[in-house]
Amino acid sequence: MKLFDPLDINGLLIKNRIIMAPMCTHFDMTSDRAQSYYQKRADGGVGLIITESICVNKFSDNVFIDKLRRFVENIHLYNTKLFIQLVLSDDIPGSAKKLAPYSFGQYQQASISDIELCYKQIINAALACKKIGCDGIEIHGAHGYFLAQFFSKRTNFRIDKYGGCINNRMRFAIECVRNIRNNIEESFIISYRFSADEFMPNGVTIEESQQLAFELQNAGINILHVSAGIGTDGEYRVTPNANQPLGVFSDLANSIKKVVRIPVISVGRIHTPEVAEDILVHDKSDFVAIGRALIADPNWVRKVATNNSASINRCIACNNCIMKISRGDELTCKVNNNLF
Ligand SMILES: Cc1cc2nc3c(=O)[nH]c(=O)nc-3n(C[C@H](O)[C@H](O)[C@H](O)COP(=O)(O)O)c2cc1C
Repeated sequence: MKLFDPLDINGLLIKNRIIMAPMCTHFDMTSDRAQSYYQKRADGGVGLIITESICVNKFSDNVFIDKLRRFVENIHLYNTKLFIQLVLSDDIPGSAKKLAPYSFGQYQQASISDIELCYKQIINAALACKKIGCDGIEIHGAHGYFLAQFFSKRTNFRIDKYGGCINNRMRFAIECVRNIRNNIEESFIISYRFSADEFMPNGVTIEESQQLAFELQNAGINILHVSAGIGTDGEYRVTPNANQPLGVFSDLANSIKKVVRIPVISVGRIHTPEVAEDILVHDKSDFVAIGRALIADPNWVRKVATNNSASINRCIACNNCIMKISRGDELTCKVNNNLF
Protein backbone atom coordinates (compact mmCIF):
# COMPACT_ATOMS: atom_id res chain seq x y z
CA MET A 1 0.00 0.00 0.00
CA LYS A 2 1.18 3.52 -0.77
CA LEU A 3 0.17 4.41 2.80
CA PHE A 4 3.27 2.62 4.00
CA ASP A 5 5.77 4.05 1.52
CA PRO A 6 8.28 6.29 3.28
CA LEU A 7 8.59 9.85 2.02
CA ASP A 8 11.11 12.60 2.46
CA ILE A 9 10.23 16.17 3.42
CA ASN A 10 13.30 18.21 2.49
CA GLY A 11 15.65 15.53 3.85
CA LEU A 12 13.48 14.39 6.76
CA LEU A 13 12.40 10.79 6.16
CA ILE A 14 8.90 9.95 7.36
CA LYS A 15 8.44 6.17 7.63
CA ASN A 16 4.90 6.19 6.21
CA ARG A 17 2.31 8.63 4.87
CA ILE A 18 0.22 8.81 8.02
CA ILE A 19 0.32 11.91 10.18
CA MET A 20 -1.45 12.46 13.46
CA ALA A 21 -3.38 15.73 12.99
CA PRO A 22 -2.95 18.49 15.58
CA MET A 23 -5.67 18.15 18.21
CA CYS A 24 -6.01 20.14 21.35
CA THR A 25 -6.41 17.93 24.48
CA HIS A 26 -6.25 20.33 27.45
CA PHE A 27 -4.08 17.70 29.18
CA ASP A 28 -1.13 20.11 29.71
CA MET A 29 1.59 19.17 27.26
CA THR A 30 4.21 18.74 29.99
CA SER A 31 2.12 16.29 32.04
CA ASP A 32 2.57 12.50 32.20
CA ARG A 33 -0.95 12.09 30.83
CA ALA A 34 -0.19 14.10 27.68
CA GLN A 35 3.03 12.12 27.31
CA SER A 36 1.22 8.85 27.59
CA TYR A 37 -1.60 9.92 25.20
CA TYR A 38 0.83 10.95 22.44
CA GLN A 39 3.22 8.07 23.08
CA LYS A 40 0.41 5.58 22.60
CA ARG A 41 -0.27 7.02 19.12
CA ALA A 42 3.45 6.96 18.28
CA ASP A 43 3.59 3.34 19.40
CA GLY A 44 0.55 2.71 17.18
CA GLY A 45 2.72 3.51 14.15
CA VAL A 46 2.06 7.04 12.85
CA GLY A 47 4.97 8.41 10.83
CA LEU A 48 4.69 11.98 12.12
CA ILE A 49 2.89 13.58 15.01
CA ILE A 50 1.87 17.22 14.73
CA THR A 51 1.05 18.26 18.27
CA GLU A 52 -1.91 20.29 19.33
CA SER A 53 -1.40 24.02 18.98
CA ILE A 54 0.86 25.60 21.56
CA CYS A 55 0.83 29.36 21.95
CA VAL A 56 4.13 31.00 21.02
CA ASN A 57 4.24 32.98 24.26
CA LYS A 58 4.62 29.72 26.26
CA PHE A 59 8.16 29.55 24.87
CA SER A 60 9.31 32.44 27.03
CA ASP A 61 9.27 29.94 29.93
CA ASN A 62 12.46 27.86 30.16
CA VAL A 63 10.93 25.38 32.58
CA PHE A 64 8.17 24.65 30.06
CA ILE A 65 10.73 24.21 27.28
CA ASP A 66 12.83 21.81 29.34
CA LYS A 67 9.82 19.68 30.20
CA LEU A 68 8.87 19.56 26.54
CA ARG A 69 12.32 18.18 25.70
CA ARG A 70 11.51 14.93 27.51
CA PHE A 71 8.25 14.73 25.54
CA VAL A 72 10.11 15.03 22.22
CA GLU A 73 12.72 12.44 23.20
CA ASN A 74 10.06 9.91 24.17
CA ILE A 75 8.18 10.26 20.87
CA HIS A 76 11.41 9.75 18.96
CA LEU A 77 11.90 6.35 20.64
CA TYR A 78 9.19 5.05 18.26
CA ASN A 79 10.86 6.32 15.10
CA THR A 80 8.00 8.80 14.83
CA LYS A 81 8.87 12.34 13.80
CA LEU A 82 7.48 15.30 15.69
CA PHE A 83 6.39 18.82 14.76
CA ILE A 84 5.00 21.22 17.31
CA GLN A 85 2.10 23.31 16.08
CA LEU A 86 2.60 26.98 16.95
CA VAL A 87 -0.23 29.45 17.21
CA LEU A 88 0.28 33.19 17.50
CA SER A 89 -0.92 34.94 20.64
CA ASP A 90 -3.80 37.36 20.23
CA ASP A 91 -3.72 38.30 23.93
CA ILE A 92 -3.37 41.89 25.02
CA PRO A 93 -1.65 42.01 28.42
CA GLY A 94 -3.96 43.51 31.06
CA SER A 95 -6.97 43.62 28.74
CA ALA A 96 -9.96 41.37 28.09
CA LYS A 97 -9.81 42.39 24.43
CA LYS A 98 -8.10 40.28 21.77
CA LEU A 99 -5.93 41.36 18.88
CA ALA A 100 -7.38 41.11 15.38
CA PRO A 101 -6.60 42.65 11.99
CA TYR A 102 -9.30 45.25 12.56
CA SER A 103 -11.08 46.73 15.60
CA PHE A 104 -14.63 45.57 16.21
CA GLY A 105 -16.51 44.58 19.37
CA GLN A 106 -14.10 42.86 21.74
CA TYR A 107 -11.28 42.95 19.17
CA GLN A 108 -8.56 45.56 18.88
CA GLN A 109 -6.66 46.24 15.68
CA ALA A 110 -3.11 44.83 15.85
CA SER A 111 -0.59 47.63 15.48
CA ILE A 112 2.64 47.29 13.50
CA SER A 113 4.50 46.81 16.79
CA ASP A 114 2.02 44.04 17.79
CA ILE A 115 2.77 42.35 14.47
CA GLU A 116 6.52 42.74 15.00
CA LEU A 117 6.18 41.22 18.46
CA CYS A 118 4.47 38.22 16.85
CA TYR A 119 7.50 37.73 14.62
CA LYS A 120 9.84 37.81 17.61
CA GLN A 121 7.67 35.35 19.51
CA ILE A 122 7.34 32.87 16.68
CA ILE A 123 11.07 32.97 15.91
CA ASN A 124 11.81 32.39 19.59
CA ALA A 125 9.31 29.50 19.76
CA ALA A 126 10.66 27.88 16.59
CA LEU A 127 14.24 28.13 17.86
CA ALA A 128 13.19 26.54 21.16
CA CYS A 129 11.49 23.69 19.27
CA LYS A 130 14.67 23.13 17.30
CA LYS A 131 16.79 23.21 20.46
CA ILE A 132 14.75 20.49 22.17
CA GLY A 133 14.99 18.19 19.15
CA CYS A 134 11.74 18.67 17.24
CA ASP A 135 11.96 17.77 13.57
CA GLY A 136 9.94 20.81 12.61
CA ILE A 137 7.11 23.12 13.47
CA GLU A 138 3.74 23.80 11.98
CA ILE A 139 2.43 27.34 11.81
CA HIS A 140 -1.29 27.38 12.60
CA GLY A 141 -2.68 29.65 9.91
CA ALA A 142 -6.06 27.91 9.69
CA HIS A 143 -9.61 27.93 11.05
CA GLY A 144 -10.21 31.66 11.31
CA TYR A 145 -7.82 32.35 14.17
CA PHE A 146 -5.60 35.43 14.45
CA LEU A 147 -3.16 34.68 11.60
CA ALA A 148 -5.91 33.39 9.30
CA GLN A 149 -7.99 36.51 9.97
CA PHE A 150 -5.43 38.59 8.10
CA PHE A 151 -5.79 36.50 4.96
CA SER A 152 -9.58 36.56 4.87
CA LYS A 153 -11.55 39.41 3.34
CA ARG A 154 -14.24 38.44 5.84
CA THR A 155 -12.18 39.69 8.78
CA ASN A 156 -9.49 41.98 7.37
CA PHE A 157 -10.61 45.57 6.71
CA ARG A 158 -7.21 47.18 7.17
CA ILE A 159 -6.09 49.91 4.84
CA ASP A 160 -2.34 49.59 5.48
CA LYS A 161 0.13 47.17 3.88
CA TYR A 162 -1.50 44.24 5.77
CA GLY A 163 -4.97 44.72 4.27
CA GLY A 164 -6.74 45.16 0.95
CA CYS A 165 -5.32 43.25 -2.01
CA ILE A 166 -4.36 39.60 -1.68
CA ASN A 167 -0.62 40.38 -1.54
CA ASN A 168 -1.26 42.59 1.47
CA ARG A 169 -3.57 40.10 3.16
CA MET A 170 -1.00 37.32 2.89
CA ARG A 171 1.87 39.55 4.06
CA PHE A 172 1.58 38.62 7.75
CA ALA A 173 1.79 34.90 6.97
CA ILE A 174 4.65 35.30 4.51
CA GLU A 175 6.64 37.53 6.85
CA CYS A 176 6.17 35.03 9.70
CA VAL A 177 7.66 32.34 7.49
CA ARG A 178 10.53 34.51 6.21
CA ASN A 179 11.40 35.60 9.73
CA ILE A 180 11.62 32.02 10.96
CA ARG A 181 13.46 30.84 7.86
CA ASN A 182 16.07 33.62 8.18
CA ASN A 183 16.83 32.50 11.72
CA ILE A 184 16.85 28.72 11.43
CA GLU A 185 18.65 26.16 9.27
CA GLU A 186 17.11 24.91 6.03
CA SER A 187 16.99 21.35 7.42
CA PHE A 188 14.45 22.35 10.05
CA ILE A 189 11.04 21.69 8.56
CA ILE A 190 8.34 24.35 8.55
CA SER A 191 4.79 23.29 7.79
CA TYR A 192 1.97 25.77 7.23
CA ARG A 193 -1.64 24.84 7.95
CA PHE A 194 -4.44 26.84 6.39
CA SER A 195 -8.12 26.62 5.55
CA ALA A 196 -8.14 26.35 1.77
CA ASP A 197 -11.82 27.26 1.77
CA GLU A 198 -13.47 28.92 4.74
CA PHE A 199 -16.97 28.06 3.48
CA MET A 200 -18.12 31.48 4.68
CA PRO A 201 -19.60 34.49 2.89
CA ASN A 202 -16.66 36.65 1.78
CA GLY A 203 -14.33 34.05 3.29
CA VAL A 204 -11.14 32.55 1.84
CA THR A 205 -11.61 30.75 -1.49
CA ILE A 206 -9.58 27.96 -3.04
CA GLU A 207 -8.31 30.32 -5.76
CA GLU A 208 -6.92 32.68 -3.11
CA SER A 209 -5.44 29.72 -1.23
CA GLN A 210 -3.62 28.55 -4.35
CA GLN A 211 -1.87 31.93 -4.46
CA LEU A 212 -1.09 31.75 -0.76
CA ALA A 213 0.33 28.25 -1.15
CA PHE A 214 2.58 29.33 -4.00
CA GLU A 215 3.93 32.30 -2.04
CA LEU A 216 4.42 30.24 1.13
CA GLN A 217 6.52 27.84 -0.89
CA ASN A 218 8.63 30.74 -2.19
CA ALA A 219 9.04 32.04 1.35
CA GLY A 220 10.58 28.75 2.53
CA ILE A 221 7.72 26.52 3.69
CA ASN A 222 8.54 22.81 3.28
CA ILE A 223 5.10 21.26 3.50
CA LEU A 224 1.51 22.52 3.29
CA HIS A 225 -1.33 21.19 5.43
CA VAL A 226 -4.69 21.73 3.77
CA SER A 227 -7.58 22.03 6.18
CA ALA A 228 -10.86 23.93 5.70
CA GLY A 229 -13.56 25.85 7.53
CA ILE A 230 -13.37 28.07 10.56
CA GLY A 231 -13.20 26.98 14.17
CA THR A 232 -16.00 29.00 15.63
CA ASP A 233 -18.93 28.67 13.22
CA GLY A 234 -20.94 26.39 15.50
CA GLU A 235 -21.26 23.86 12.69
CA TYR A 236 -17.89 22.23 13.26
CA ARG A 237 -17.00 22.18 9.57
CA VAL A 238 -13.33 21.85 10.53
CA THR A 239 -14.25 18.49 12.01
CA PRO A 240 -16.76 17.16 9.46
CA ASN A 241 -19.62 15.22 11.01
CA ALA A 242 -20.89 11.81 10.01
CA ASN A 243 -23.11 13.28 7.27
CA GLN A 244 -20.03 14.49 5.41
CA PRO A 245 -18.26 12.16 2.99
CA LEU A 246 -14.98 10.54 3.99
CA GLY A 247 -11.97 12.51 2.73
CA VAL A 248 -14.25 15.54 2.29
CA PHE A 249 -11.43 18.10 1.86
CA SER A 250 -9.17 15.98 -0.35
CA ASP A 251 -10.16 17.82 -3.55
CA LEU A 252 -9.00 21.06 -1.91
CA ALA A 253 -5.64 19.42 -1.17
CA ASN A 254 -5.52 18.28 -4.77
CA SER A 255 -6.09 21.86 -6.01
CA ILE A 256 -3.22 23.06 -3.81
CA LYS A 257 -0.92 20.24 -4.90
CA LYS A 258 -1.37 21.31 -8.54
CA VAL A 259 0.31 24.69 -7.90
CA VAL A 260 3.30 23.72 -5.70
CA ARG A 261 6.36 21.45 -5.77
CA ILE A 262 6.47 20.76 -2.03
CA PRO A 263 4.51 17.95 -0.33
CA VAL A 264 0.89 18.48 0.64
CA ILE A 265 -1.10 16.98 3.50
CA SER A 266 -4.82 16.27 3.23
CA VAL A 267 -7.06 16.05 6.30
CA GLY A 268 -10.76 15.70 7.05
CA ARG A 269 -12.57 12.44 7.78
CA ILE A 270 -9.83 10.30 6.29
CA HIS A 271 -10.96 7.60 8.63
CA THR A 272 -10.75 4.38 6.62
CA PRO A 273 -7.61 2.89 5.07
CA GLU A 274 -9.41 2.59 1.74
CA VAL A 275 -10.12 6.31 1.54
CA ALA A 276 -6.62 7.19 2.75
CA GLU A 277 -5.04 4.93 0.13
CA ASP A 278 -7.34 6.26 -2.61
CA ILE A 279 -6.28 9.86 -1.88
CA LEU A 280 -2.61 8.92 -2.12
CA VAL A 281 -2.95 6.70 -5.16
CA HIS A 282 -4.80 9.44 -7.03
CA ASP A 283 -2.04 11.85 -6.03
CA LYS A 284 -4.44 14.25 -4.34
CA SER A 285 -1.92 14.68 -1.53
CA ASP A 286 1.41 13.22 -0.42
CA PHE A 287 0.41 12.57 3.18
CA VAL A 288 -2.87 12.02 4.98
CA ALA A 289 -3.47 13.46 8.41
CA ILE A 290 -5.81 11.59 10.70
CA GLY A 291 -7.38 13.23 13.70
CA ARG A 292 -10.39 11.84 15.50
CA ALA A 293 -9.87 8.30 14.20
CA LEU A 294 -6.63 8.22 16.19
CA ILE A 295 -8.40 9.45 19.32
CA ALA A 296 -10.81 6.56 18.84
CA ASP A 297 -8.09 4.00 18.09
CA PRO A 298 -4.40 4.70 18.75
CA ASN A 299 -3.53 1.47 16.92
CA TRP A 300 -5.26 2.46 13.66
CA VAL A 301 -1.99 2.39 11.72
CA ARG A 302 -0.73 -0.90 13.15
CA LYS A 303 -4.05 -2.58 12.47
CA VAL A 304 -4.01 -1.47 8.84
CA ALA A 305 -0.36 -2.51 8.44
CA THR A 306 -1.10 -5.98 9.78
CA ASN A 307 -4.24 -6.56 7.68
CA ASN A 308 -6.40 -6.17 10.72
CA SER A 309 -8.49 -3.17 9.67
CA ALA A 310 -11.71 -4.93 10.62
CA SER A 311 -10.75 -4.60 14.28
CA ILE A 312 -10.33 -0.79 14.17
CA ASN A 313 -12.36 0.93 16.86
CA ARG A 314 -14.09 3.37 14.54
CA CYS A 315 -14.61 7.08 15.11
CA ILE A 316 -18.32 7.87 14.67
CA ALA A 317 -17.65 11.59 13.94
CA CYS A 318 -20.04 12.58 16.75
CA ASN A 319 -17.80 15.56 17.58
CA ASN A 320 -18.12 15.02 21.31
CA CYS A 321 -14.32 15.55 21.39
CA ILE A 322 -14.31 18.99 19.79
CA MET A 323 -17.36 20.12 21.75
CA LYS A 324 -15.56 19.28 24.99
CA ILE A 325 -12.46 21.15 23.87
CA SER A 326 -14.49 24.17 22.75
CA ARG A 327 -16.01 24.38 26.23
CA GLY A 328 -12.52 24.33 27.80
CA ASP A 329 -12.87 20.76 29.12
CA GLU A 330 -10.37 17.95 28.68
CA LEU A 331 -10.57 15.67 25.67
CA THR A 332 -12.86 12.66 25.93
CA CYS A 333 -14.13 10.21 23.33
CA LYS A 334 -17.53 8.53 23.09
CA VAL A 335 -16.07 5.33 21.63
CA ASN A 336 -12.79 5.14 23.55
CA ASN A 337 -12.62 5.61 27.29
CA ASN A 338 -8.99 4.58 27.47
CA LEU A 339 -7.18 7.51 25.82
CA PHE A 340 -3.91 6.87 27.63
C1 LIG B 1 -10.57 17.69 19.72
C2 LIG B 1 -9.97 18.39 18.52
C3 LIG B 1 -9.02 19.39 18.71
C4 LIG B 1 -8.45 20.04 17.61
N1 LIG B 1 -7.43 20.93 17.81
C5 LIG B 1 -6.77 21.44 16.74
C6 LIG B 1 -5.60 22.23 16.92
O1 LIG B 1 -5.10 22.43 18.04
N2 LIG B 1 -5.01 22.75 15.81
C7 LIG B 1 -5.50 22.53 14.55
O2 LIG B 1 -4.94 23.02 13.57
N3 LIG B 1 -6.58 21.73 14.35
C8 LIG B 1 -7.21 21.17 15.40
N4 LIG B 1 -8.25 20.32 15.19
C9 LIG B 1 -8.65 19.92 13.81
C10 LIG B 1 -7.95 18.60 13.41
O3 LIG B 1 -6.56 18.77 13.28
C11 LIG B 1 -8.48 18.06 12.06
O4 LIG B 1 -8.22 18.99 11.05
C12 LIG B 1 -9.98 17.74 12.10
O5 LIG B 1 -10.30 17.02 13.27
C13 LIG B 1 -10.42 16.94 10.87
O6 LIG B 1 -9.73 15.73 10.81
P1 LIG B 1 -10.41 14.33 11.28
O7 LIG B 1 -11.68 14.20 10.49
O8 LIG B 1 -9.41 13.27 10.92
O9 LIG B 1 -10.68 14.41 12.73
C14 LIG B 1 -8.87 19.69 16.29
C15 LIG B 1 -9.84 18.70 16.13
C16 LIG B 1 -10.38 18.04 17.21
C17 LIG B 1 -11.37 16.94 16.98
